[in-house]
Amino acid sequence: MGCTIIGCGKALPALEIANDDLTALVDTSDEWITTRTGIKTRRICVDETNVDLAERAARAALGWDEGGFNERRIDPEEIDLIVYSTATPDVMVPTCAALLRRRLGLSNAVAFDMNAACTGFIYGLGIAESMMAASAAGAAGASGRNAFRRALVVGGERLTRITNWEDRNTCVLFGDGAGAAVVEWSDERAGILATYLRNDDDTDNALTCPTAFDAPQPFDAQGVSLEAAQAADPGLARIDAELGVTEAVEAGRPRQTLYMHGQKVFKFAVEAMGRAVDEVLERAGLTIEDVSFIVPHQANERIIKYAAKRMKLPLDRFQISIAHRGNSSSACIPMTLSDAYDAGRIHPGDKVVLVGFGGGFTSGAVLYEA
Ligand code: ACO
Repeated sequence: MGCTIIGCGKALPALEIANDDLTALVDTSDEWITTRTGIKTRRICVDETNVDLAERAARAALGWDEGGFNERRIDPEEIDLIVYSTATPDVMVPTCAALLRRRLGLSNAVAFDMNAACTGFIYGLGIAESMMAASAAGAAGASGRNAFRRALVVGGERLTRITNWEDRNTCVLFGDGAGAAVVEWSDERAGILATYLRNDDDTDNALTCPTAFDAPQPFDAQGVSLEAAQAADPGLARIDAELGVTEAVEAGRPRQTLYMHGQKVFKFAVEAMGRAVDEVLERAGLTIEDVSFIVPHQANERIIKYAAKRMKLPLDRFQISIAHRGNSSSACIPMTLSDAYDAGRIHPGDKVVLVGFGGGFTSGAVLYEA
């Protein structure tokens, strides 16, 4: 009995930008980007939105359109949950999940967005699995809850909307995309064998995006004040200091872009991926030898190589998709999982590990039996 992945799909924007194209924007080279990251090209939304991509990925995962992996076609009323991971929603309200629900006509679905940075899809699967397990027949308290039997779990991002195209340390890394999986509670199959979700404090502020809401607010500590509507938000200055971005923001750097200390994130990533795989295997009572295949977050090919070395695994046990996509945050893992299905690399009974890390810091892994 458990929660099984029965469908998977992905979608990418049309525009493809090569490393050489970026030399028009920043002082970089194809050679530097290729050797330091493994990235050659990335896809960038111009006409498409986050939800446009998610819609295409979901339709493929549901078996409505060609191009996805499906055990069977899912009818709209069968989906009772949408968990949509994104750090870059098109708009704040309605949620991307609500927009997706409306477009696809998933009229029985409870739908919400969540954000765990690049680990979002792993957290999303963990949430969906927990909600299904808690409402399954026989679970303590199940009769007092919504019953969830089939969920659409999405990772969708327009990361290039929060990219600073004047910062060569970050802008060469990112791309856009969306991936989606259909998961189903099954009385016969084991499906997800274990999950491991974790947070560590990002004490060095290695990864931040200090975007702020800034509608004018006509209040000060005494009450209504029309002058206050013109003044800067005093709380924001404290958050800027807490995140270590005061100087950059005061110098005019856009606050809606990513700030990153690459080497600190790199170090955390290698450690976090190895730990998450160890922990999820221990929770399932399995060893790395039992695992057929690993689908890691795609931030830098070198991170995957180091992690593989730490796990003492050959690189061909990992699905790698970074060369023509770059890092699209929470969309990476479901898109790369979709690649693995497309390539016929996942067979019934295989044990597969999905593993990620991201800002926060978040990290985690899901181990499932296909
Ligand atoms: N082109 C040319 N030179 C560059 C570029 C570039 N695009 N970027 C940096 N450099 C230079 C630096 O300025 C530095 O020059 P200096 O020695 O003269 O100061 C030199 O290259 C080396 O820079 P490092 O930062 O040491 O390079 P490193 O090998 O660490 O690679 C990278 C940088 C690719 C960012 C790497 O650290 C990395 O991948 N980190 C992890 C990033 C990550 O995983 N992010 C995930 C989260 S993203 C999210 O959550 C949305």
